[in-house]
Amino acid sequence: MSHQLLKGKRGIIFGALNPQSIAWQVAEKCHEAGATFTLTNAPIALRMGEINALAEKCNAEVIGADVTVDADLENLIDRSMEILGGKIDFILHSVGMSLNVRKGRAYTDLNYDFMHKTLDISAMSFHRLLQTCWKKDAISDWGSVVALTYIAAQRTFPDYNEMAEAKSLLESIARSFGYHYGKAKNVRVNTISQSPTMTTAGSGVKGFDAFFNYADEISPLGNAPAEACADYCVAMFSDLTRYVTQQNLFHDGGYSFTGVSQNVINTFGSK
Ligand SMILES: NC(=O)c1ccc[n+]([C@@H]2O[C@H](COP(=O)([O-])OP(=O)(O)OC[C@H]3O[C@@H](n4cnc5c(N)ncnc54)[C@H](O)[C@@H]3O)[C@@H](O)[C@H]2O)c1
Repeated sequence: MSHQLLKGKRGIIFGALNPQSIAWQVAEKCHEAGATFTLTNAPIALRMGEINALAEKCNAEVIGADVTVDADLENLIDRSMEILGGKIDFILHSVGMSLNVRKGRAYTDLNYDFMHKTLDISAMSFHRLLQTCWKKDAISDWGSVVALTYIAAQRTFPDYNEMAEAKSLLESIARSFGYHYGKAKNVRVNTISQSPTMTTAGSGVKGFDAFFNYADEISPLGNAPAEACADYCVAMFSDLTRYVTQQNLFHDGGYSFTGVSQNVINTFGSK
């Protein structure tokens, strides 16, 4: 890639677990675009070791951090600034996990200890991250922070379960912190609402294949692949999007604004 949109920029990328991870694609694209960054994931995920291949390819250091632990985030931010040689210009939060989904609990039978954990990992962690950066004044003026979300924050997808609440909270934190960080430092904070994508987290949702295929049929452009999401993240981290903040940005091939498609009409026409 020749555009080098992120040349000279320093970043932190959360959530690359394996090559299917959206964060993995983002890391590769940021590297191609000239950025330097650190990679981070939960210590337990690092033990799987796959991230080391990505780190080598991107010439990036890996720093373990559980997003629910303040001390881990503090260490991550300090170490990243040390390694990269200055304040951070961009951050990708690509983290999500629901114990109720994992354990197959229905939405009408949630375990609340699990739900606390889900909200902590998938949503409050975004506030925790932003607040840690705020207190350390770790993000450069006009820096850009993006978290990944899903349209279940606005519409009901029965098997997405409590992750719908987590995504609503995540998007709200982007709006609220976006205000404070914008006022203080011109830092922008946004969420990107991505199409269903075949990843470890995505395919853990019951009936995922069906709503992947349904979304693909509805969207005029078809589902947006992870690689295209990564391109969008690069654009959001670049200086070409400096006045976009507090937004939930749909990256879904048009799904969110389409009522019905001809293929779906054809399928149900004879009912
Ligand atoms: N796959 C989809 O269909 C889809 C669609 C829209 C949005 N998203 C969102 O994209 C983001 C990335 O998910 P993905 O689909 O690439 O799946 P993924 O499973 O590859 O990524 C999820 C990541 O969260 C990390 N994580 C979990 N608990 C953590 C903790 N306590 N501390 C630090 N990291 C932790 C995992 O290790 C993993 O790397 C998530 O926020 C997800 O909700 C996914």
